Amino acid sequence: MSWASDYLDEARAAIVGAGSLQDLEQLRVGYLGRKSPLTLRLREAAQLEIEERAELNRTKIHLEDLVKTARRELERVAIERVYADSAVDVTLPGDPVPRGRLHLLTQIRREIEDIFLGMGYEVFEGDEVVDAWSNFDALTTDAGHPSRSQNDTFYLSEDVLLRTHTSPDQIRLMEARTPPIYAIMPGRVYRRDTPDATHSPTFLQVEALVVDRGITLADLKGTVLHFFRQLFGPAREVRMRTSFFPFTEPSVEFDVTCFICDAQGCPVCKHSGWIEMGGAGWVDPDVFRNVGVDPDEWSGFAFGLGIERIAMLRHGLPDLRLFWENDLRVLEQF
Ligand code: DAH
Repeated sequence: MSWASDYLDEARAAIVGAGSLQDLEQLRVGYLGRKSPLTLRLREAAQLEIEERAELNRTKIHLEDLVKTARRELERVAIERVYADSAVDVTLPGDPVPRGRLHLLTQIRREIEDIFLGMGYEVFEGDEVVDAWSNFDALTTDAGHPSRSQNDTFYLSEDVLLRTHTSPDQIRLMEARTPPIYAIMPGRVYRRDTPDATHSPTFLQVEALVVDRGITLADLKGTVLHFFRQLFGPAREVRMRTSFFPFTEPSVEFDVTCFICDAQGCPVCKHSGWIEMGGAGWVDPDVFRNVGVDPDEWSGFAFGLGIERIAMLRHGLPDLRLFWENDLRVLEQF
C-alpha cells in the first residue's frame, strides 16, 4: 500500500460519509486545500519519483471528482427537502372563506317588497332629506304639532329636514304621478331620540299608499291581512282600532294576532294575543287636494310600519341597538 492509496481510502470514506454541504467543504479543505497533506506532499514534487508524482496527481483528481459527486448529491437532497417541506397537498380541503350575508333588516325589507310586488305594487324610494312641506304641511300636520319641534326633528335649515317618517314619500309620489297608484316606500327615517332598547335616532319604515277609484277601509284591511299572513303565517288575523293621524280620516292602528304564541298569550303580546303593528287610515281628502288629486274622483288608504319592530318581534331580539352594533355573533345568526 502506498501513501497515496491510504490517503485516498481515508479521504474517500470521509467524503462519502459527509452528512451536509458544510461537512463536505471542511473535508475538501482538509484533504485537498492548500495546507492539506496531499498539497504539501505535491509541493515537494521536484524531489519525488515521477511515478509517485503521477500517483499523487491522480489521487488529487480522483478526490476532486469524489467531492464534486458528493456535493451534487447533497445539493439534490437539500433541494428535495425544501420541496418536501413546502409541498402543498392539493387533495386537502381548503380553509372556508367566510361569506358575508345581507343584514337582517335588509332581508326583511326585501321580503316585504316581494310580498307587495306579488300584489302588483311598485317599490318607490323617496329622499331622506325633504322640505317641511312634504314631511308636515302637505300631510296636514299643522304648525303647532309637537312632531315639528326642533327637539323632535333634525332640521338642516328652517325649511329642510331629515324626514321623520316615510309618509312624505306619499306626497312626492302623488306630486310626480297620476293615480291609480299602488306603491310601497321603504326607507330610513330620523328622529331626535336618545338611543335605548326601543329608541333610535334612525330606523326603517315602510309606507304603503293606494290611490284608486272607490277604495275603502275594507281594501286596507284585506291588504294588511294578506301582507301579515305572508309575513307571519296563514293563521294570522288583523284588527283595527281607531286612532288619530293628521293625514288620514278615519285613522286606525292595526294589530296582528301574536305569531309567537298563536294568540294564546305570551310575554311578547303581553298576554293579550295581539301585537301592535302600525298606523293606517283612509287618505284625508285635504292631503289629496294638497297634491292636486281630486278627492271626489279618487280615494285611497295608507299605512306605515317599522321594519326593526318586525325583526325584533320575529326573532325575539331584545334591543334595537343590536342592529347597528354590527356584532357578528348576532348578525351571523340570520
Ligand atoms: N307616519 C306615521 C308614523 O311615523 C305612521 C303612519 C300612520 C303612516 C298612518 C301612514 C298612516 O301612512 O296612514 O308614525
